[in-house]
Order: sequence, then structure tokens, then C-alpha cells
Amino acid sequence: MSHPLEITNLVKRFGGLVATNDLSFHVEQGQSVGLIGPNGAGKTTVFAQIMGEHRQTSGTIKLYGKDIGNKTTPERIRLGVSRTYQVPRPFSDMTVLENIRVGQMSSSIWKMITTRPNHEREEEIAHSVGFAEADLHKTPGELSMGDLRKLEMARTIATGTSVMLLDEVFAGLTVAEIAQIATLIQKMRSDGMTFLIVSHDLKALEPLVDSLVAINYGSKIAEGSFAEVMGNASVRESYLGVV
Ligand SMILES: Nc1ncnc2c1ncn2[C@@H]1O[C@H](COP(=O)(O)OP(=O)(O)OP(=O)(O)O)[C@@H](O)[C@H]1O
Ligand SMILES: [Mg+2]
Repeated sequence: MSHPLEITNLVKRFGGLVATNDLSFHVEQGQSVGLIGPNGAGKTTVFAQIMGEHRQTSGTIKLYGKDIGNKTTPERIRLGVSRTYQVPRPFSDMTVLENIRVGQMSSSIWKMITTRPNHEREEEIAHSVGFAEADLHKTPGELSMGDLRKLEMARTIATGTSVMLLDEVFAGLTVAEIAQIATLIQKMRSDGMTFLIVSHDLKALEPLVDSLVAINYGSKIAEGSFAEVMGNASVRESYLGVV
């Protein structure tokens, strides 16, 4: 049976730097996998290749069994994968609802030109991630970091994605905001969403994932349950700084 996401022997070189080194792993239907590793390990570069923002040097990326490695980003979004960014990237002169609308239409320029805005759907998505009525017409400059992360997630939901890639969703958040985002992820998991989650906040990540993949210098150094990976000697040495 094909998996929602399957990466095989992925390699990405930036000049002499090997940012992804023969990396293979998969995410099963409805599962949530954490992708961890020290700064510069290559986590974001994996996301960028899955989305087609960077073309892989070699290897394959499959979505539901279909090779997407040569498809455009909008095509990949249309096939059901979408990501959030480590540093939120909203359109700064658009409101919360307008930003969500762009997410809804991001799978095709044609859709953007021809589709009439679905205000009800936008509001539904905004409320589902926890925006209050009063926030809907705010611009990103008026939002807290927690709200900006919610907006990132809302834009991803709006694409209609079934595989969600979350890059450092907890970075820069207060304890209360982390709890809100975690609750949101749990709810989406119970609704059947498949996740690949990058986070340095292991405490927040632990209850959200079925398994972990740990990478360093672009290579996989461990894979398994949270406890197994945390107990792995290479992970402890390279990532946690303890032997
Ligand atoms: N566009 C690029 N051109 C050249 N090198 C790049 C590019 N993007 C990333 N790199 C390099 O690839 C390596 C992996 O970077 P990446 O951003 O994927 O790491 P990361 O694991 O996401 O790190 P962090 O935890 O700091 O977000 C780093 O050495 C980085 O400098
Ligand atoms: Mg990163």
C-alpha cells in the first residue's frame, strides 16, 4: 500500500554542501512523524524539496504513491501536501481572512483568477484554528506570534491539504500559545490529518508524534519511537549535546 509521504534516497547538494544525504523515510496514513536534528541539520531543506521549492539533486519523493519530484509547487499542493514556515510569511497588507483566501487558491493561478471567494469557508477555517471574530479583519502586524502561527496553519488548511508539514510551529511562542497550537494539532490528528513536524521543543513535540526521524548533516541518524530515538547514542551526542 502506498504511503501519504515517502522519501527515498533523497540527496540535496548546495555546491559542495550536502544538505540532504541519502535520506529515506515515510509517513503512514494518519500518522504524525517528528523530524528533529540540530540547527543546520537539513530539516527545512527536506520540507523545501517536498514542496518543490528546491529541486532535489537525486532521489524520489512520493505522495500517495505518485512521484512528485518533478512537479511544480502548485501541483504538489493540489495533490494534497502543504507546509508552514519557520518564520511566518503572511501577506502583510492583507487581513487574516484575505490571507486564508490566498491559501485556498494557492494550488493554481487559474483558480485565483476564476474562483469566487468562499467567505464562509474562510471564516470556518479561521475559527477552527482559534481566531476570534474580532481578529478576522486584523492585518498580520496587529497579531501576536501565536496568532501568526495559527494563521500559517489556517492558510495550510485552506489549501485542502491532507499531508501537513509544520516547520518549528512552537518557536517564539508562550507556554499558553504552545498549548493552543498543540491542541489544534491533536484535533487535526483525530480528524485524520497526516503530519510531518519539525520542532526543537521536544517536550511539546512528544505527545504529538507517533515516531521520530532524527537527522544530522542531512543524514538519518535514528528512527523509531520517541523514547527509542531519545535513547540513541548518536542522537544524544549530536543533538542533545550529551554522551
Ligand atoms: N538555499 C541554500 N543555499 C545554500 N545552502 C543552504 C540553502 N538552504 C540551506 N542551506 C544549508 O543547508 C544546511 C541545512 O539547512 P536547513 O535550513 O535545512 O537546516 P535546519 O535543520 O532547518 O536548521 P534550523 O534548525 O536552524 O532551522 C545548512 O548548512 C544551510 O546553511
Ligand atoms: Mg529550519
